[in-house]
Amino acid sequence: MNILIIGGGNMGITYAKAFINSHVVTRSQLMILEKTIGKTDELKSLNVGEVYNEAGDCISKADLIILAVKPQDFMQLSESMAKAVNKNQVFLSIMAGVKISTIKKALNIDKVIRSMPNLPAQIGQGMTAFTATDAVTRHEQALVQNLLSTTGKTLYVEKEDLLDAVTAVSGSGPAYVYYFMDAMVNTAMQMGFNKSEAELLVMQTFSGAMSLYQQSELNCKEWIEKVASKGGTTEAALRSFSENKIDERIGAGVQKALDRAVELGKS
Ligand SMILES: NC(=O)c1ccc[n+]([C@@H]2O[C@H](COP(=O)([O-])OP(=O)(O)OC[C@H]3O[C@@H](n4cnc5c(N)ncnc54)[C@H](OP(=O)(O)O)[C@@H]3O)[C@@H](O)[C@H]2O)c1
Repeated sequence: MNILIIGGGNMGITYAKAFINSHVVTRSQLMILEKTIGKTDELKSLNVGEVYNEAGDCISKADLIILAVKPQDFMQLSESMAKAVNKNQVFLSIMAGVKISTIKKALNIDKVIRSMPNLPAQIGQGMTAFTATDAVTRHEQALVQNLLSTTGKTLYVEKEDLLDAVTAVSGSGPAYVYYFMDAMVNTAMQMGFNKSEAELLVMQTFSGAMSLYQQSELNCKEWIEKVASKGGTTEAALRSFSENKIDERIGAGVQKALDRAVELGKS
């Protein structure tokens, strides 16, 4: 299978490197199309496949085309490639908020897989959810899932609408985690630690708590019970969180992200 990645930015490079490093594809099977000349030289130096500057030179050679440009660049891109594509090609979009119907219509194609990765994909720890049109065969879907898995875990969702919820939960999710960490770092500094000490305390707590969680069968509530003893310090903090309805507020924030994803998808 020949793969063309369109857009040699953060995500395009992430996928190219992940595919090559995990030996799922060879360099000779991989092409990258990037419109900015300065960037093509940089891409060539990465040695992750043939680098192109013109859509007409590479599109027809590809079995799978990965759309990794910014959503606002897609319409212009589609105009430059519409004549060169064919209905046997599979299109994998990682563009946030661009609907399958928009891609099908702009390119006059049927086989579309739409995915939503997140930032940790850049270090192989990503969470990517995806869905596919009926025209994509099981074999093609499995091939694409194998490719996506080189950047972390994958989840197939039946309905495209759920990708908006994925955007709100795992897409934006890393920022929620950093927000919580930042609040704890600031609090630790107010308690008397310098910045690096506060960061060490908080980072290692997050990392250790996550490793513990991943290595056990216990859920979050059960782990909370293990940390919080009756009348102790953790219970005092948790009671304050509960009185201030922090869980409901987090839920409301994530819901706002979903509302915004739906709104952006319409525009
Ligand atoms: N970054 C993330 O963590 C993340 C997570 C989930 C989804 N996504 C999605 O991934 C996509 C790419 O994001 P990114 O962060 O990788 O963006 P990026 O770094 O800006 O990369 C996009 C690249 O595509 C190039 N490009 C634009 N139009 C083109 C065209 N017609 N032909 C060839 N190349 C073209 C851009 O060149 P110029 O810069 O010169 O215009 C740029 O190098 C976005 O749609 C985003 O929604 C990203």
